[in-house]
Amino acid sequence: MLQGEGFSTKAIHIGQNPSQWNHYSVVPPIVMSTTFQQDGPGEHRGYDYSRSGNPTRNVLETCLAALDKGKHGFVFSSGLGAVTATTSLLKAGDHMISGDDLYGGTNRLFQQCLTLHDITLTFADMTDINNVITAIKPNTKMIWLETPTNPLLKLVDIRAMTDAVKHKNPEIIIIVDNSFLTCYFQRPLELGADIVMYSLTKYMNGHSDVIMGAAITNRDDLAERLRFLQNALGIVPSPFDCSLVNRSLKTLELRMQQHMKNGLAVAKFLKSHPCVEKVIHPYLPSHPQYEITLKQTTGHSGMVSFYLKGDSIKFLKALKLFLLAESLGGYESLAELPSIMTHASVPEKTRIQLGINNQLIRLSVGLETEQDILADLDQALNACN
Ligand SMILES: Cc1ncc(COP(=O)(O)O)c(C=O)c1O
Repeated sequence: MLQGEGFSTKAIHIGQNPSQWNHYSVVPPIVMSTTFQQDGPGEHRGYDYSRSGNPTRNVLETCLAALDKGKHGFVFSSGLGAVTATTSLLKAGDHMISGDDLYGGTNRLFQQCLTLHDITLTFADMTDINNVITAIKPNTKMIWLETPTNPLLKLVDIRAMTDAVKHKNPEIIIIVDNSFLTCYFQRPLELGADIVMYSLTKYMNGHSDVIMGAAITNRDDLAERLRFLQNALGIVPSPFDCSLVNRSLKTLELRMQQHMKNGLAVAKFLKSHPCVEKVIHPYLPSHPQYEITLKQTTGHSGMVSFYLKGDSIKFLKALKLFLLAESLGGYESLAELPSIMTHASVPEKTRIQLGINNQLIRLSVGLETEQDILADLDQALNACN
């Protein structure tokens, strides 16, 4: 089959070859069967039980791995399922260093679940790599980072981080949560990370109708372990959901380009609005890490955060087009208050230190018409004083 190297060509064709099915179906079939007939005991045709492997899931995993220029892809029943599987590479007595500004649910899993298994944690501001290097202990086995961070959109220099960490101890596994940018705008494996992790629930699926996660790696040793954990922990997604995400990848490039366009237009609009204190968007030259943005990304998603001067509850209630809801990355525009909604599980003291206060609004700018998006923000901002 003729294939090319372009991002969308790969998204549309890799893993989708119709000749893998007897009926030559162009769209990969949804194989719902939980079990597969065997020719003899232990003699099967690639699949025996759908928790261990499923043809529809395999199509998606193959395509995802190719898009990140990785060798192995694994999907899980949620983004946090992917966090569970990847942190299960650790064992009791190990130490992990995590970014201090990350999704609240990941933070909760680290603080309230990993610690029960005798894994110790250090949270560090990773915008300064020295904070990470000085936190490394003899038993440090994993470094976890999100970039841009959620919700403050701080950047971590992935290449500088992986070089410095591997120089100090090449055994440390570096994992990057790439949910905010996707493999269309940022490819952490090419920047030295060992595993790239996703909440596919966000931009990768992009239609707000599937909860799923993924982990991609180039390392055969980690892949072998992740394959074992995917099956042993049982955190697998349904074939139907795999089919939906596989369908969504076909338009990832188009969607991300439009999210970038609409998101940047919103950031520029907010920056000039008198009711706005401060806007955070990595592609505004005023962003403190603008240089890193240009170096390691080819664009930004629809995520924009800002500090409001007026009453944030009034503002959020006044929005008409933007829906007040958690999550992000879908075709529809969403607004939320991280301090009460997505980041309520982060301890209050930490939230205050980070600047996640009641004036901080996070937007997931969708794919609606730009003028309508800006008009909605304008009327809600004018109503919040
Ligand atoms: C950056 C990031 N990582 C991980 C997750 C967890 O993913 P899921 O909700 O699919 O379990 C989220 C969810 O909001 C997220 O924003």
